[in-house]
Amino acid sequence: MGKITMGLDIGFSSIKVVVLSTDGKNKKLVSLGHVVSPSPGIVSDSDLDLEAVANAIKNLVSEVKAPTKDVIIALPESRIFTRVIYDLPYLSDDELGQAIRFAAEEFVPMPVQDVNLNYQVIFRSPQKGPKSRTVVFVIASSKMLVNKYLKVLGIAELKPVVIETEVIAATRSLISTNPYSPTTLLVQLGATTTDYAIVSEDLILLTRSISTGGNALTRAIAQNFNFELVQSEEYKKVYGLLEDQLEGKLFQIIRPIIDVIAAEGKRVIQAHEIQNRQIPVKRVVLTGGGSQLPGLVRYFTSVLELEVQEADPWSTINIDPSLKGKLATEGPLYSVAVGLALKQI
Ligand SMILES: Nc1ncnc2c1ncn2[C@@H]1O[C@H](COP(=O)(O)OP(=O)(O)OP(=O)(O)O)[C@@H](O)[C@H]1O
Ligand SMILES: [Mg+2]
Repeated sequence: MGKITMGLDIGFSSIKVVVLSTDGKNKKLVSLGHVVSPSPGIVSDSDLDLEAVANAIKNLVSEVKAPTKDVIIALPESRIFTRVIYDLPYLSDDELGQAIRFAAEEFVPMPVQDVNLNYQVIFRSPQKGPKSRTVVFVIASSKMLVNKYLKVLGIAELKPVVIETEVIAATRSLISTNPYSPTTLLVQLGATTTDYAIVSEDLILLTRSISTGGNALTRAIAQNFNFELVQSEEYKKVYGLLEDQLEGKLFQIIRPIIDVIAAEGKRVIQAHEIQNRQIPVKRVVLTGGGSQLPGLVRYFTSVLELEVQEADPWSTINIDPSLKGKLATEGPLYSVAVGLALKQI
């Protein structure tokens, strides 16, 4: 079957797994699945809660019959710190390590010795000179957070081979697969957070995360209609932002929350365009379970005044025809897991 890789996305509302294979040329979907996350889940620090997450993962992985124990995982955007550093002179790799530690003190709200620092060079002048410079994308993750994920995977009897971030993974499955992608705002609507990234030519230039996600919509519906959460969730998925449904009542309730999410997207675009006037954002890609909200693409198109697309992480992967229909609608749910599996293929 060639090489096999497994991507695991441990979300607040659900845990997703995707197994891909390759014969060196073609990539193929082997299996996939998702399971509801136990509550409170991976955000907890208690051993009992983490064991529950580990067991859910273990069951899911055995259900999809993954023929490997190696797994690629992502840290949530909301728990890490990223920054693009523009104002560095020309630096060698050694000097860069030093400079990044120094710069991290400014944007990481914890002692630098307690974080892992990773970076990606975005631009480096070909040689040293008075005008030459280095631009880097820096990712800082707390060592405690990483250890927690390692512990959970250990209990699940899996071996993490790479740890990335959700936005890096989603960028790989949604944007890097198309060489003609214009500068894009990626918006990932999860259960508890919405993450944003500006991506240009494969490079992430800016990321942001806010603590408003799909669950905030469900809660607002429950409060206003005096519904149970399960019923609110159903209403949300069926009527969403469709103004002509239920006399526009649902639209009225959730619109202010969607406006918060859209306004942050606008701010991210503005912040990017101040630094990079020459590569304005041309398109928005929506992903995450919350992006399936009926009417969302249309609403975002009118508010952001840009082309808005739904995520399709399967564009470069061969899929059994019997699965195609199902995956077309579940695409946005698997963007991170697909991106993770693509990392080592
Ligand atoms: N068809 C749908 N319409 C609207 N919202 C939906 C739909 N399907 C799922 N959602 C919402 O998507 C959210 C879950 O998305 P997702 O699975 O991407 O989150 P997660 O990765 O588990 O969470 P997080 O990223 O916050 O850890 C929930 O709020 C859920 O209500
Ligand atoms: Mg998620």
